[in-house]
Amino acid sequence: MSAPQGTYQQSYRESIENPGGFWLDAAEGVEWSRKPTRALDDSERPTYRWFPDGTMNTCFNTLDRHVRDGRGDHIALIHDSAMTGEVRRYTYSQLLDEVARFAGVLTEQGVSAGDRVVVYMPMIPEAAIAMLACARIGAVHSVVFGGFAAKELAARIDDAQPVVLVTASGGLEPGRTVEYLPIVRSALDLASTPPHTVVVKARKEIPGSAADYGTDGGAWFDWDELAADAPSVGPVTVGATDPLYVLYTSGTTGKPKGVVRDNGGHAVALTWSMKNIYDIGPDDVWWTASDVGWVVGHSYIVYGPLFVGATTVMYEGKPVGTPDAGAFWRVIAQHRVAALFTAPTAIRAIRKVDPGAKELEKHDISTLRTLFAAGERLDPDTYEWASRTLSVPVVDHWWQTETGWAICANLRGLEPMPIKAGSPTVPVPGYRVEVVDPSGHPVAADTEGNIVIGLPMPPGTLTGLWRDESRFFASYLATFDGYYLTGDSGYLDEDGYLFVLGRSDDVINVAGHRLSTGSIEAVVASHPAVAECAVVGIHDEVKGQRPSGYVVLESGVSITPAVLREELVSMVREQIGAVATFRDVTVVDALPKTRSGKILRKTMRQIVDNEDYTVPSTIEDATVLNRLEERLRRL
Ligand code: COA
Ligand code: AMP
Repeated sequence: MSAPQGTYQQSYRESIENPGGFWLDAAEGVEWSRKPTRALDDSERPTYRWFPDGTMNTCFNTLDRHVRDGRGDHIALIHDSAMTGEVRRYTYSQLLDEVARFAGVLTEQGVSAGDRVVVYMPMIPEAAIAMLACARIGAVHSVVFGGFAAKELAARIDDAQPVVLVTASGGLEPGRTVEYLPIVRSALDLASTPPHTVVVKARKEIPGSAADYGTDGGAWFDWDELAADAPSVGPVTVGATDPLYVLYTSGTTGKPKGVVRDNGGHAVALTWSMKNIYDIGPDDVWWTASDVGWVVGHSYIVYGPLFVGATTVMYEGKPVGTPDAGAFWRVIAQHRVAALFTAPTAIRAIRKVDPGAKELEKHDISTLRTLFAAGERLDPDTYEWASRTLSVPVVDHWWQTETGWAICANLRGLEPMPIKAGSPTVPVPGYRVEVVDPSGHPVAADTEGNIVIGLPMPPGTLTGLWRDESRFFASYLATFDGYYLTGDSGYLDEDGYLFVLGRSDDVINVAGHRLSTGSIEAVVASHPAVAECAVVGIHDEVKGQRPSGYVVLESGVSITPAVLREELVSMVREQIGAVATFRDVTVVDALPKTRSGKILRKTMRQIVDNEDYTVPSTIEDATVLNRLEERLRRL
């Protein structure tokens, strides 16, 4: 197999040699209030800004322009809830109407351009409506995933300092309802800068309404009551470089990083990606099975498909158990989905329950052209199963919250390429991907190293961390001069295909959800019986990884392992959220460390996963490792 030579190679070369020209051409896909005359502002290197003199409105580009162009009756959004059994459809005109009125609600609550709005919502259309309404008035949304607990919500509130918080009475998980309002109430109590106003979308399935909290510190309002009387508000013009949203993601420490995305670069990049990566146009039905709380949901449930006038499916449910392992096939068949984007963990979950894909026989999924996977590595076994089962190309692509769209992909609309199992294929135009050794020198093909991206990164990638420039530099730009550090390690093969092997930091990926082991460790360490602890991400058959805790007890403490486990699991659940899926606790007599006191988490993970490992030369006491190995490999 040789490196792709055709259209891709040409586009890629142009994007690197003449990024200004390449991205100004791509900018034609966006409707501007003032067209940019230049693409890149590099006057403050290593920080870059795209389309510095362009002005536009993101919401206008997702809704108004399609209605104006006569596509108002086209379906923009299909909400399919496997939890309630209901399907709601919005045409572009209807969605525009709802968004313009909610923009009116926000305006009447004192939100103006540049103000932040925290959106803590389940997978209901109002989540997308709130996001688009913010974009319409130039406000900056910050969506917080519903699986996070009050403390995590409070940390994000304190960082973003929102004027308004938009929420719902709750979310539906299999076998239980998650009431959001008590969580919001305690987050506001924990926060030092709580917003004064909370807007609540009451769901008939879940108890709780604004009225229950209205007088309880701050003003709580009912979404429907406010929207009924609100004026429709038009899109305001913002600078291309103005922020569209802040999305918090896990770093190596407990404090989440507020990734900032601009308006103009984001619109250009996502519009380009829909055609060139996903091969999706206005007549297609597109489904991203993720959550609006993650970057995948931002980019490809809400913005990307609407930029190009397609129909987006928003699904509330799971791949299995709601009600069965045919749920995804049912949605594809019912809504005539052309392409599905999900995380490999969802495919593994389906395969585990229905290895012979018996459920598939009940559904006609002939509209499906492609299955896209991201969020974690698509392991070859899952790739083979999905390809065989679905008989469509199964396309891995690699990206991160920070980039907002794919770094490496098989560009189905530009030039489909041969697929290699285990690889997200090649760098997307605009991304100069290299693999370097610890001193920053490029390594030979097929040699593992740090995956870095040459600066500038293309439009749509993060413009910084919210109000934390020094962390932005320290996290991404300081390690290798002139490069962005992805935090992933891997290798490029002879054909220029990238293979991502995993994170080189303490970030883990559980069921496509990015978590910091540091934040889980902080909770575990706060238990009075715990002297020290390490949390590592170990292999999990369905979720890819899961956090596993190793605990050294304070001397003289007597607590049974079962009680300790129960207490730690509930502490993590209460302080971080159910999404942390922390269940494993092992008591050990010591943790392996380097002489400078750094815990050897990677070596511990390798031991638990039965991988070969080398004992670091800096180890403080090698006997600790031997004892640990004996204990862990027996588990
Ligand atoms: N609000 C509240 N709780 C939530 C939640 C939400 N939005 N999302 C998940 N949770 C809870 C779950 O109910 C579960 O709670 P439990 O411990 O009481 O059972 C816990 O968080 C863990 O959730 P999850 O890791 O999703 O496990 P699961 O067993 O419910 O489902 C999968 C496993 C594989 C089916 C599921 O993770 C999945 O579909 N993943 C798709 C991947 C995805 O969407 N990735 C996003 C990035 S692309
Ligand atoms: P998030 O920011 O939540 O999207 O998580 C980003 C991280 O998930 C990356 O840094 C990778 O570690 C991992 N990841 C995402 N997509 C892939 C992929 N296709 N292959 C391998 N790892 C991936």
